[in-house]
Amino acid sequence: MKKLIIANWKAKLDPRESLDLAKKYSKMSDAKNNVVVCPDFTAVQQVATILKGSKMSLGAQNCSVFSPGAYTGEVTAAVLKKIGVKYVIIGHSERRAAGESERSVFEKLIKVLELGLVPVLCIGETANERKNKKTTAILKKQLESALAKLPKKLLEQRIVIAYEPVWAIGSGRELDPEETEIQISLIKKWVFEIGGVNSQVLYGGSVDSQNCSLYLNQKSVDGLLVGGASLDYRVFDKIINC
Ligand code: PGA
Repeated sequence: MKKLIIANWKAKLDPRESLDLAKKYSKMSDAKNNVVVCPDFTAVQQVATILKGSKMSLGAQNCSVFSPGAYTGEVTAAVLKKIGVKYVIIGHSERRAAGESERSVFEKLIKVLELGLVPVLCIGETANERKNKKTTAILKKQLESALAKLPKKLLEQRIVIAYEPVWAIGSGRELDPEETEIQISLIKKWVFEIGGVNSQVLYGGSVDSQNCSLYLNQKSVDGLLVGGASLDYRVFDKIINC
């Protein structure tokens, strides 16, 4: 079965560089797996134009908790949808570290699901939480605060979850694939208990072309969220065909 590979370009490229990278992506031959590309807001529209006609889907790295209106500085999910976005990353640990609350993660999930877009909900423990053996409790808490109060109709829509240990992101210290399998199967069990019926769970954190197959070969791992390694199209080409 095809897995889902999401490229998160973060805030690392200027619009010209995003355009160049999108052009390189668009010339790759059709991948073995499904691919989603998440540029920053300034590049979403031009990347949409480049990827039109390719099999890759467009994603955004965040969205507003608000609907369109008088909210200076916000980018709404409704506008993202209009320019072709299908997936929205919500609650990435870099945003949580910058102050994003569990309440706002929940509100963004509602916005995205109501519009028929697919949320990519990020959860993960910090190095300290892991050291103090709190990984399981943290993952469960983040998952419950995001999903448990969703109206049933929204909970039954497609929801992608990315398990990204915070200490593994951008650090070159990836999680042992066997532990990934254990955590992701637990996450799936919890999502099912909450009432989610159409979820996929990805791994993220220092994924590259060397380790991608170790994760994708795990039974419960439905795909990967890739940061740094998605900025080199040759490396990313290997990952999407992993
Ligand atoms: P990384 O980032 O692949 O550079 O570790 C992953 C992410 O933050 O989504």
